[in-house]
Amino acid sequence: MIRKILKGLTLTSCLMGTLFAADMNDLSKVEKWDKIGNGVWKTAVGDVSKEVLYSDFAGNPPKVTQLNKLSNLPMRKALRNLKYRVNEDGKVFVHIPTEPGEKVFGFGLQFDGTQKTGKIVELKVDHFNKGGGATHAPVPFYISSKGYGVFFNSSKYLKIYNMIGSRKDSKNNPPEVDRNPPADEPQPGRWQAVPKSDAVEAYVHAKGLEVVGFSGVDLQDVVVRYNLYSGGGAMPPMWGLGFWHRVPSKFNEAQTTKEIEDFKTHNIPLDVVGLEPGWQTKSYPCTFEWQKKRFAKPAEFSQKLLNDGLYLNLWINPYISKYAGIYDKMYPLSGSHMVWLGIVPDYMLPEARKTLMTQFKKDHFDIGISGYKIDEVDGYDFWLWPDHATFPSGTSAETMRQTYGMEMQQMLHKELYRKNNKRTYSLVRASNGAASNYPFVIYSDSYGHGQYITGLSSASLCGILWCPEIRNARNEREWINRMHTVCFAPMAMLNAWASGTKPWSFKNATDAVRRTIQLRMKLLPYLYTAFADYNQKGIPPVRSMLLETGNAGAQVVNQKRTLDSEKDPYADGFHQTVKEDNSLFMFGPNIMMAPFYNRDTKRDVLLPKGNWYDFYTGQFVGNDKKITVTAEELNDLPPLFVKEGSFVPMLKESINRTKDITGKELEVRFYGKENANYTLYEDDTKTYDFQNGKFMNRQFKAEKQADGTFKFTVSESGDKSQKIYGKVNFRQMTK
Ligand code: GAL
Repeated sequence: MIRKILKGLTLTSCLMGTLFAADMNDLSKVEKWDKIGNGVWKTAVGDVSKEVLYSDFAGNPPKVTQLNKLSNLPMRKALRNLKYRVNEDGKVFVHIPTEPGEKVFGFGLQFDGTQKTGKIVELKVDHFNKGGGATHAPVPFYISSKGYGVFFNSSKYLKIYNMIGSRKDSKNNPPEVDRNPPADEPQPGRWQAVPKSDAVEAYVHAKGLEVVGFSGVDLQDVVVRYNLYSGGGAMPPMWGLGFWHRVPSKFNEAQTTKEIEDFKTHNIPLDVVGLEPGWQTKSYPCTFEWQKKRFAKPAEFSQKLLNDGLYLNLWINPYISKYAGIYDKMYPLSGSHMVWLGIVPDYMLPEARKTLMTQFKKDHFDIGISGYKIDEVDGYDFWLWPDHATFPSGTSAETMRQTYGMEMQQMLHKELYRKNNKRTYSLVRASNGAASNYPFVIYSDSYGHGQYITGLSSASLCGILWCPEIRNARNEREWINRMHTVCFAPMAMLNAWASGTKPWSFKNATDAVRRTIQLRMKLLPYLYTAFADYNQKGIPPVRSMLLETGNAGAQVVNQKRTLDSEKDPYADGFHQTVKEDNSLFMFGPNIMMAPFYNRDTKRDVLLPKGNWYDFYTGQFVGNDKKITVTAEELNDLPPLFVKEGSFVPMLKESINRTKDITGKELEVRFYGKENANYTLYEDDTKTYDFQNGKFMNRQFKAEKQADGTFKFTVSESGDKSQKIYGKVNFRQMTK
């Protein structure tokens, strides 16, 4: 009887094509990988013909020439063994085997750490604090400790099981252990509450996706290749690396002018002034039109600021008010649902892009507006359009959500700034994969100082720039510490939209704050060169220690927990967590920053292997050693350490506007005891002419002499008309 039923089942199921073995035999192997450049391959999995890919939004095509200057590595085993399946629900999953002890890191701007081994991430653009993968930039790219990276190039929601979810036919499953054995039955280990699997499995809400695989000689090399594949890193204008200040939302011209004057009185550098929503006639939803009651003559105001070397940045969200001049034109070009009662333009339509860019060009760009802060392109669900919303281009609501921040970046970058040969440095609150080339920095409404510091590390693993903006503090000490963090980030910005704070708001902290901002200004030649290396070579300008040392001080901790049927019902199992240390990060190629958290005035610094020198004194501080630093001994400046054999080119004197950088003398510091080279980058600081070879380099060389002193030399190459800085003064810091 049973056999009969089974037979019947098999027959009908086979006829319907639904019964399958439910094991690895049902998975398909990739037939063909296409090589993009050295160490980078892509393949289509399932049906991608109707899928929108993140790479469709990339700022530039892959930098193949640069990729091919890197070593020609073979494809790693994990990728060669990648398998996939189109499930019965029409959606795809991808299976990538992992080895015992392998670790995976990444998946975008994640505030809870970079290590994702043993975790499930649901990659969905969302507002802060959702955790579990949902974030402002949920980039579906991870790097593995085995020297490879995987980019799931799909604009749909993804759920990724990182070595979680054991398959029944896996040969590497942990042994089954009885959780409640009789006393006389020895077990092969402890019962595991969350057994590890031997693969990364990605389930994608799509019929198909592209998978891009990367090999690298080390973890940094994997990220470098991802950034080059994404078109090379962003290249901001020099002014974008100066100090930014966003004034309160309802500030008018007189108040903004007064604030700028106060910066001068306090002798504090300033390059960019950010206007928050109130510059428009209506906001939430927006008109993108000047509120003349606050800014009567915007063109004159902008010009006055430009004459003073200051650049205006405008806050917008993309949702259009019915009071906007372009509303009627945009109405048929927008989606079915509104956000804050504003229509949601479908920027997949060229007509919608053209309508917006025509207005932006005339009302903003042509009067000198330097860029935008694109707000609210992330979640929460109750703010954004629903998942069932429809858009006239036929793009799904899900893809729209995952790519809206990218669409805005692409449009502004390509169709406004690059088209008119002017660089922008702007802000956006959502981004995603293959976005490395966009000169947009992500920010958040969240404000945990620790999370903000972690963001610097996690962003660096996936071609994202992160701004741990300063808004407020509980006391002077926190104000100083947060100022340290933001001044050693890709963008140094005070966002006073609600707090009304100013750099001098905490009186007794003002000197320390000024010195910190001045230190960033002095470091501009070094930071600008780090960005040129990001653009041309794909090296992130601010980097996780994971990329520097191959491990971010992660420690495996065996947790001891107490069984409690209400609070911790699985506590009796074996629990291992990874304690990760993101409290150090690299600022440029040679400086390691060890920020003080919150209100701390003292901290431990675990110096990685290699000789490290004190940035301020040049003295040797240690090698693979734990030291303690205090705010007092550093005169309230941030703890900074420099690698063995490093040049750090700085301005000899600080400046209050980057426009004053031209011709300024350099103090080229040298740290350590070993020979070294460094290449300084110079160009016109604001256009894209560098792409046509209009840039120059100065090569510094340190050679040890017989008597132990160093001989320093400088040579120049490239287009010498692009010289920014004046005379070079070498300074040997380590005596
Ligand atoms: C928030 C944004 C803040 C500020 C504010 C203005 O959404 O994150 O930085 O711009 O809007 O209303």
